Amino acid sequence: MYKVAVLTLFPDMFPGILNHSITGRAKSNGLWDLKVYDIRQFAKDTHKTADDVVYGGGAGMLMKPDLVADTIKLAKQDMPEAKVVYLTPTGTPLNQEKAIEFANFEGGVILLCGHYEGIDQRVIDLYVDYEVSIGDYVLTGGEVAVFPLVDSILRNVPGVLGNSATLHEESFDNDLLEYPHYTRPAVFEGLEVPKVLRSGHHGKIAEWRLERAIEKTKKVRPDLYQKYLEKQNKEK
Ligand code: ADE
Repeated sequence: MYKVAVLTLFPDMFPGILNHSITGRAKSNGLWDLKVYDIRQFAKDTHKTADDVVYGGGAGMLMKPDLVADTIKLAKQDMPEAKVVYLTPTGTPLNQEKAIEFANFEGGVILLCGHYEGIDQRVIDLYVDYEVSIGDYVLTGGEVAVFPLVDSILRNVPGVLGNSATLHEESFDNDLLEYPHYTRPAVFEGLEVPKVLRSGHHGKIAEWRLERAIEKTKKVRPDLYQKYLEKQNKEK
């Protein structure tokens, strides 16, 4: 069973969408498990204060380091082998490769959600194994980022996707985006399904799909296309 822990000031946000569809079914089937830890439980004053001012001045507040550290320690008691991942816009960008790497962590992941201006650097230095960003934009908190991160990890956990074939040919394999797909009818609102896809000629279909994948990647992700080219040249 793949173990996920979420450390948050907003425990009610979970499991949320993770209890639905494929990830929800996989959870019911015992393929993964979620534990949520409320960081505020360690607050020491009657107001349950979780934030404090930033040294050096400037706007915003930081999460109190002792509360965050206490919560990490508690989660580690339950998951001693887990990797601690801090969700932050200043982290390494999430990609398919990272999702697969995380899915292979035997001890699972402990996901730390930042709020306000984030967390004290010493907590990162002492306890965090990975810092991950889900994209070059700033969210209101790390919680929102947990959903795409966990979803992208879980679909690489064995058994979560019933049909493993769907895992084998999809976007980002070979650094290409996936080719376009069509279903019936053969003509829809005047637009026809490309004839080659109806030809039954597997070689020609594979060739057409690769061409379209290259065309699409070149157009919308020139950075990825460059990576694809470099890998092709290396293989030659
Ligand atoms: N917290 C705020 N913005 C984020 C981002 N882009 N990725 C991960 N965590 C975040």
